[in-house]
Amino acid sequence: MKPVVIAALAALVCSAGCGAKVEENPPAESPPVEVAAETPAPDFRELPEASREGGLPLYEGLEARRSARTYGSRKLTEAEVGQLLWAGQGITSARGFRTAPSAGALYPMFLYYADDVALWRYDPRRHGLVKAVDGDVRRDLARAGLDQAPLKRAPGIIIVVAKPAISAAKYGGRAERYCMIEAGHIGQNILLTAEALGLGACPVGAFRDGELLDVMALGGEYLPLYLIPVGEAFEP
Ligand SMILES: Cc1cc2nc3c(=O)[nH]c(=O)nc-3n(C[C@H](O)[C@H](O)[C@H](O)COP(=O)(O)O)c2cc1C
Repeated sequence: MKPVVIAALAALVCSAGCGAKVEENPPAESPPVEVAAETPAPDFRELPEASREGGLPLYEGLEARRSARTYGSRKLTEAEVGQLLWAGQGITSARGFRTAPSAGALYPMFLYYADDVALWRYDPRRHGLVKAVDGDVRRDLARAGLDQAPLKRAPGIIIVVAKPAISAAKYGGRAERYCMIEAGHIGQNILLTAEALGLGACPVGAFRDGELLDVMALGGEYLPLYLIPVGEAFEP
């Protein structure tokens, strides 16, 4: 496996493929489903401190990044989960600035992580996961994502959601635009970090918003913008 971490990157706004419906995916065997833990998981899951060193040189990461839609069944390590979420929304300054830029530093974006145990919300201040929905919701997320194969196969799914009202308090009608731009920055940071970790990941924009919010137990004030299935890179 490649060493951890890649420098955070100013990313491109999601522009290509936004109107896409279900895309063609390479056929692959479904990996065995992870067995859920028998003991209930605690509501807070502290993640190991993210590495600030090593990783791929930036230009090598840019050259290597490709959307990967097949994964091994191995569960992500806590370090991998922590590194990916930190790359998306980690706090990198004493003043609270984060890895990804945010209009007016208002940070209207939230990251969730779904695994075999629960749906978790990333808490950047504590660098940990707060349980949002108990149990394995990955199948339900995949259904909301039009049953796309990468979602059905991934050991982990990162979800990027916005709460535009946070940004609208200052930017009014431009808030949704800014949230979408921020999702692009966050997504690219996560995708490049997956590359640096030797993991495979794919940005997925085709899903049913209402159904996804229902699965995540979130109200209509949230705007889901990206699903990012991630797992061990696996060539069938
Ligand atoms: C906004 C956006 C939405 C996307 N939605 C999907 C999707 O729903 N399903 C999928 O398999 N790939 C999706 N992709 C990935 C693109 O298909 C992929 O980026 C494109 O084919 C180029 O390949 P590359 O990422 O390997 O360079 C999406 C990409 C973007 C930027």
